[in-house]
Amino acid sequence: MMVAQAAKLISSATSTPISMEIMLADALDAEPALMSVRGVTHYYGDRCGCRSIDLDLWPGEVLAIVGESGSGKSTLLNLLAGRFPPSAGTIHYRDAEGVRHNINCLSEAVRRRLLRTEWGFVHQNPRDGLRMRVSAGGNIGERLMACGNRHYGKLRGSALDWLSRVEIAADRIDDRPSAYSGGMQQRLQIARNLVSSPRLVFMDEPTGGLDVSVQAKLLDLLRQLVRQLNLSVLLVTHDLVVARLLAHRMIVMRRGEIVETGLSDQVLDDPQHAYTQLLVSSILQG
Ligand SMILES: Nc1ncnc2c1ncn2[C@@H]1O[C@H](COP(=O)(O)OP(=O)(O)OP(=O)(O)O)[C@@H](O)[C@H]1O
Ligand SMILES: [Mg+2]
Repeated sequence: MMVAQAAKLISSATSTPISMEIMLADALDAEPALMSVRGVTHYYGDRCGCRSIDLDLWPGEVLAIVGESGSGKSTLLNLLAGRFPPSAGTIHYRDAEGVRHNINCLSEAVRRRLLRTEWGFVHQNPRDGLRMRVSAGGNIGERLMACGNRHYGKLRGSALDWLSRVEIAADRIDDRPSAYSGGMQQRLQIARNLVSSPRLVFMDEPTGGLDVSVQAKLLDLLRQLVRQLNLSVLLVTHDLVVARLLAHRMIVMRRGEIVETGLSDQVLDDPQHAYTQLLVSSILQG
């Protein structure tokens, strides 16, 4: 059973905590972790970015990394995506062929292959994830071309299909992203990332910086796509509402360390750590 299904079952079940644990253990036994992180620590000079991080991400799982500003969320996400190496610790990723890679020792060729074909990265600011001087259709087609697709008609067809999936009108295909609103740019960035059917998508505050109504629509869209495509997602957010809506499980970070981890509903309904209790009570008051 996939973890995503297990988490859904568990959250909808009226079972005792013990049977929940058994169900989760069954799910976790079924498939090896997609990503395994042990003892990951990063320092920027003497400043701690994150420390002693252990976590596993399972196939089909959406894992939220939450915590206040400066708690180390983006540092951790960037380390996991191999954007820079940790000061200590290991990160392993199991690819589509079942080969286990140490992210910190990838050859450039393998790193590029993973980035092109198996991973996506959705930045908070769409400008960091889009080519602003290339048309919307080009932004989507480019990602497919990087995977070896060359047929113009097919590239255009896929671009049109993905524009409609992210609710952008077909007649905007030749516009540059700079002519799009912030919400449209973010949807285009999502299309560019998902068109190549990645297995794992990293997202850093994907709905941050948008108006509340635009944010709600985007969240709804992300939720649908993640389910339809059975994606594994590492999602950074400081917003517990976003985490609850999208994530099966969450880890709570404070000052670079994990203070609590668990199924999203459990963590939010029954937070154990004083810091998580504070975060949860602040949204209830907010
Ligand atoms: N490039 C950098 N150089 C030095 N220190 C950094 C750098 N990037 C992050 N830090 C420090 O590492 C710690 C964690 O920062 P990080 O950006 O990972 O937090 P965050 O949880 O993503 O915060 P936010 O919600 O504001 O994005 C902070 O103390 C921050 O000042
Ligand atoms: Mg950040």
